[in-house]
Amino acid sequence: MKDRPHRVDLADVIRWHLESERAFGMHELPLSGLRPVSHGEGAAAAAPTEVGRDGAHPSKTSSEPSSDPDVPAALEAIAGRIAACTACRLSESRTHAVPGQGNPRARLMFVGEAPGRDEDLQGLAFVGRSGQLLTRMIEALGLRRDDVFIANVIKCRPPENRDPAADEVQACFHFLMDQIDLVRPEVICTLGGCATNNLLGRSDPMHRMRGRVFPFRGAQVVPTYHPSYLLRRPEEKRKAWADLQVAARLLGLEVPRKS
Ligand code: URA
Repeated sequence: MKDRPHRVDLADVIRWHLESERAFGMHELPLSGLRPVSHGEGAAAAAPTEVGRDGAHPSKTSSEPSSDPDVPAALEAIAGRIAACTACRLSESRTHAVPGQGNPRARLMFVGEAPGRDEDLQGLAFVGRSGQLLTRMIEALGLRRDDVFIANVIKCRPPENRDPAADEVQACFHFLMDQIDLVRPEVICTLGGCATNNLLGRSDPMHRMRGRVFPFRGAQVVPTYHPSYLLRRPEEKRKAWADLQVAARLLGLEVPRKS
């Protein structure tokens, strides 16, 4: 028997697009015709779990919540070390270092690339335009920003928002590793190629990384597109929404439908 040609189901494409637009896009879109996503759907549902560059780290299992009462204090201490850090040239041009913030016991962590202008001015991660979209993405999962932990690969803004240099990432990376080891999230959503590739020690394009799940330091990494990319390419939101639903399923979250 001949193989049937691969067919794109247009109705599915439209449904995912509308659903993602409703989730963290344009809220005036109609709800009718959308159905909840069942297990087995979504880009990463059938994807293999892969081993990242450091799948072997801590002794703790991903389902075990952190019980260390000093986690908030330890995170504060890291933030203090970041604020005082002069390990790379970015310390000379920063207004504020941006350690990252959120729930010290978050089950879900988001990791971006580097602070931008607004973040540098306020000392907080993801507070500019892409931060507003990230907030909508988090809320689409039925969570609040306070429920998750949000951090970046590097903690100081690169001038003109250029890509972080390899030596800057190298100088800063240990801070993020310490944050991950303290918070011990079950799922880490990496936002964009810089975060994904640096975390997993790869150099692959995002379209090859998203739709897959990677173990890393006791967590499962779900790569997705960076909100600033989604602001430029809103048609890609449906893929990001599919990725977020994978994260939700890994966390056992019921993703609410918007009314
Ligand atoms: N982009 C990022 O990668 N991180 C931020 O904190 C803000 C914008």
